[in-house]
Amino acid sequence: MEIALRPREPSDDELHFAWQADPAQVATTVPARSRAEFGAWIARITADPSVTLRTITADGAVVGTINTFVQGDERFIGYRVANKHWGKGIATEAVRLMVQVDASRPIFATVLVSNIASVKALARNGFIPVREQRSNDGPEVVLRLG
Ligand SMILES: CC(C)(COP(=O)(O)OP(=O)(O)OC[C@H]1O[C@@H](n2cnc3c(N)ncnc32)[C@H](O)[C@@H]1OP(=O)(O)O)[C@@H](O)C(=O)NCCC(=O)NCCS
Repeated sequence: MEIALRPREPSDDELHFAWQADPAQVATTVPARSRAEFGAWIARITADPSVTLRTITADGAVVGTINTFVQGDERFIGYRVANKHWGKGIATEAVRLMVQVDASRPIFATVLVSNIASVKALARNGFIPVREQRSNDGPEVVLRLG
C-alpha cells in the first residue's frame, strides 16, 4: 500500500465531513461540526497561509486528512484516518511525510492519553511527551518534535 499526501481538493471535503462526524472519531478528538460549521471552518483554514492542509491517500484513494496549524505561538499537527483503514500504519506514515512537507520546528501535538494509536504514531516519528494537561474529555498529553 502506497501512502502519499497531496494538497486538499474541495471534492475531499465530503469524506472529511463524514469522518469528523463519526462517533468513533468524536470520542478521540474535537467535537463534530455541523455542516455549516464545517463549511466555515474549511473556508477559514484553506484561506489561512499558516495552515498546511493535506489529503492522505492510500494507493490513490482518499483515506484521511492531516494538517499543521498555529495555536498561541506554537505550531501543531492534527490528522484523522477513515475508520475502515485504522490499524494499517496510515497515520504513522502520514505523520512521517507531513513533518517533511512542513519542516518547521518545533511541532507539537495534543492527544488524549486514551488515544493510544495517535500517541504511538507520533512517538514512532520522534515526538516526545513534554507536558500533560486536563481537558473536558480527560487527560491529554502534549508531544513535541524538534
Ligand atoms: C488516531 C488515528 C489517526 C490512528 O490512525 P491509524 O492509521 O489507525 O494509526 P496506525 O495504523 O499508524 O497505528 C499507530 C500505532 O497504534 C497502534 N494502534 C492502532 N490502533 C490501535 C488501537 N485501537 N489501540 C491500540 N493501538 C492501536 C498500531 O498498532 C501502531 O502501533 P505500532 O507503531 O506499535 O505498530 C485514527 O485512529 C483516527 O483517525 N482517529 C480519529 C481522529 C484522531 O484521533 N486523530 C488524532 C487526534 S490527536
